[in-house]
Amino acid sequence: MKIAVLPGDGIGPEIVGQALRVVDRLRSDGLDLEIEQAPIGGAGYDEQGDPLPAATLDLAKSADAVLLGAVGGPRYDQLPRQARPEQGLLRIRKELGLFANLRPALVYKELSRASSLRAELVEDLDLMILRELTGDIYFGQPRGQRKTDSGEREGFDTMRYSESEIRRIAHVAFGIAGKRNRKLCSVDKANVLDTSILWREVVTEVGKEYPDVELTHMYVDNAAMQLVRAPKQFDVMLTGNMFGDILSDEASMLTGSIGMLPSASLDANKKGLYEPIHGSAPDIVGKNQANPLATILSVAMMLRYTFAMDEAAQRVENAVRTVLGQGLRTPDIFEAGTTRIGTTQMGDAVVAAL
Ligand code: NAD
Ligand code: IPM
Ligand code: MN
Repeated sequence: MKIAVLPGDGIGPEIVGQALRVVDRLRSDGLDLEIEQAPIGGAGYDEQGDPLPAATLDLAKSADAVLLGAVGGPRYDQLPRQARPEQGLLRIRKELGLFANLRPALVYKELSRASSLRAELVEDLDLMILRELTGDIYFGQPRGQRKTDSGEREGFDTMRYSESEIRRIAHVAFGIAGKRNRKLCSVDKANVLDTSILWREVVTEVGKEYPDVELTHMYVDNAAMQLVRAPKQFDVMLTGNMFGDILSDEASMLTGSIGMLPSASLDANKKGLYEPIHGSAPDIVGKNQANPLATILSVAMMLRYTFAMDEAAQRVENAVRTVLGQGLRTPDIFEAGTTRIGTTQMGDAVVAAL
């Protein structure tokens, strides 16, 4: 089992470093995991002038799974769009056909009080956000900047979804919901956008093949509100690329911190790229403050979804629970009565719990 490891930028190398210690521990217990590292994002640009160097893409293609930290940072913000670190991430998602992005928001009992919401609103929350990842306004053409007839600059992007793109993500969503509490809420803006009208039609059609899953639809503005009003009404939330980007960051705060949310980006054959949902956190780089748990939990998702090793996945998740039960907290989830520790100490604790 070969894993391509792409640490990226900012806190990426710090959190991936801790996740690799977890992988090492699993390896020494007998899992046959092989690892190879390569640069992506700003690191790719610095080393090879490209946020997704050809060798990195080749490695990712030849591996069974990819573990990624984060990309981006202020040093690169003035580059033209194509050279920016974020393009490396978008291109690898597209090149590998990773259209299904699973972003589970799980509230650990120990962290109910770390949430931005009152504990009773989030206790035992287990929400799966399924975000379409290779379409929408992120990739739609035409896009760019131009001069209008009156001579001022205009920027434009195109939101678009084809029927087949909607259909395949809808099948994934119903499949996931069928294995959970069989409630699927599709989130769109069908009161305004043609793209969303088609989205809703196609999701409804696909739903006819899954009579045991209850399908509802919600406008994205209401969904953003409902997520902080009563998040436990949701089981699986299905949405497009941009709405999913925004709603998953919002949902992360229900769990206590964006540093807790892992993700899996899957293709049609369960090949996957695994990464925390957060970014490179320039404000805390090099301070030993980043929470590595989202990345460590991404390793658990990798074991479950790509390698079908449920037991090993659970072992990692249980280790995270143990550590939280011991009261150990990075600053982002710290609260009175717990013990504040750093990134590497959190790694120590998880490895010890394993
Ligand atoms: P961010 O997610 O990097 O940070 C937002 C806030 O959350 C910051 O205060 C940060 O310190 C905090 N945070 C994030 N991860 C944390 C962790 N593991 N532990 C503790 N605190 C954490 O978002 P941003 O500041 O908007 O973006 C910074 C850069 O990251 C930008 O260049 C952006 O494009 C990029 N980005 C990359 C990814 C990715 O690689 N998948 C995702 C989002 C943003
Ligand atoms: C994420 C990030 C990326 C996205 C950026 C960095 C391209 O915010 O993974 O959520 O918008 O998809
Ligand atoms: Mn995001």
